[in-house]
Amino acid sequence: MIRIILTGYMGAGKTTVGKALAKELGISFYDLDWYIEERFHRTVPQIFAERGEEGFRKIEQQMLHEVAEFENIVLSCGGGTPCFFDNMDYMNRQAQTVYLKASPEVLYQHLKMGKTERPLLKDKTPEEMMAFIRASLEQREPFYRQASHTLNVDLLENYAKIKDSVRLLRELLKI
Ligand code: S3P
Repeated sequence: MIRIILTGYMGAGKTTVGKALAKELGISFYDLDWYIEERFHRTVPQIFAERGEEGFRKIEQQMLHEVAEFENIVLSCGGGTPCFFDNMDYMNRQAQTVYLKASPEVLYQHLKMGKTERPLLKDKTPEEMMAFIRASLEQREPFYRQASHTLNVDLLENYAKIKDSVRLLRELLKI
């Protein structure tokens, strides 16, 4: 039985890489944010607006417990998932966990280009966004570091990034 959970900061590539890995392994892919959106018929920004971050984190934990019971899956969690409640311990008990590690500079570049609406980054100037990424990454690293594996995605060449990440992940996880 294969169960893999990808963690890491917003913009690290969890969804892109997770999808590609699941496809190669021929197993199902889940993205925790998408799962929440389907189950609640609300977008993540709507849930933040209606229930605040606290409300979102409770839902996120509940939905994590649902999805992380499924077998033969790759799950990409949200950037904040490992940092609330005992989520990181829970994920380590349920799955092989991987931290997709990227520098604040690389994360900033990805987030600037990305189309996903992220409530935590809303209305920030480039300078504010860079400062926010640096500060919150530092706070979150101790949680991310508890993953059983770490893959540094900074140095992967852009054009081959997804393919290389999948290859390296399979080596790391021995699958
Ligand atoms: C969040 C990351 C988002 C989403 C929400 C909060 C965070 O997921 O869960 O906007 O706290 O880092 P991604 O990491 O997929 O962007």
